[in-house]
Amino acid sequence: MKLEKRDLTYRPRRLRKSDNLRRLVREANVHLDDLIAPVFVVEGKNIKNEVPSMPGIYQWSIDRVIEEIDQLLDSGISRIILFGIPDVKDDKGSSSYSELGIIQKTVEKLKAEYLDLLIITDICFCEYTDHGHCGVIHEADVHNDSTLELLGKQAVSHAKAGAHIVAPSGMMDGMVGEIRKSLDGAGFEDIPIMSYAVKYASAFYGPFRNAVNSELQSGDRKSYQMDPGNIREAINEVERDIFEGTDIVMVKPALSYLDVVSEIKKISNIPLACYNVSGEYAMVKAASEKGWLDHDEIMMEMLLSMKRAGADIIVTYFAIEAAQLIKKGNGTN
Ligand code: PBG
Repeated sequence: MKLEKRDLTYRPRRLRKSDNLRRLVREANVHLDDLIAPVFVVEGKNIKNEVPSMPGIYQWSIDRVIEEIDQLLDSGISRIILFGIPDVKDDKGSSSYSELGIIQKTVEKLKAEYLDLLIITDICFCEYTDHGHCGVIHEADVHNDSTLELLGKQAVSHAKAGAHIVAPSGMMDGMVGEIRKSLDGAGFEDIPIMSYAVKYASAFYGPFRNAVNSELQSGDRKSYQMDPGNIREAINEVERDIFEGTDIVMVKPALSYLDVVSEIKKISNIPLACYNVSGEYAMVKAASEKGWLDHDEIMMEMLLSMKRAGADIIVTYFAIEAAQLIKKGNGTN
């Protein structure tokens, strides 16, 4: 656009004069309805273990997880994504699709307890396998198609337990199509899939692996998670997942990948989520503990930038803290 002479009198600062004006012209906002809180459940009784690298985030046993849910609901967050920490692991991750698995038991309990809670379940194997990889190992690598079959089983067992949405995070080729087929075959045509369509092989997941005890016994996840240098590949992944029938696509991590969020927003018309991952959370906690950053301002600035980039939905460990600030009215200052 060409600047006219009269534009020289134009002063953008006019609209920055007061908080009221700034709020009037603000382009992006963070709403309570945008946020999903991750919740970690562990086998055992009377457990509330703080994750050392994620202050304020706990592993909960099923008998106590309602303390966390009550707090979330009180602060206005009514959507969770559940991660399970089983007490037995094997090479196939079979406790992930057992009727008596940690997720299945938790979902049943939460469904009985809460009417308005939306429960999303993470679909993966890394928490359930003894080797820590996201699927079945053949010849030193995760075998795609034998993992697919088990992913279908896991998704159906979560849906049977009552999950409202399933969220496959393992980056197997064809996972969305396979899960859609399995869900439909079992009569769960109405259960949406939120696919981690674009998941990078990222060091930002470090604290999460601590939270779910899924440290890799050997190797890395680079043969299935994406290379951080790639963005066209991200678009390809999204196109494939939409083609296979996903209802929501997700980009993960969020902060270092907001260009990817923006690009995907341009090419797709289904809801777009991003995952504000454990490492992003831990950095803010650590620096603010040292007094180096203002916790609340940094938190809101990060969440706002995800919305501005184009995310419709944010999965975040900050959910409660952000909700409390937003409700006070100073969440987006
Ligand atoms: C896999 C999964 C991971 C995260 C969510 N789902 C870990 C991984 O791929 O290693 C990471 C979340 C975070 O870092 O906050 N089940």
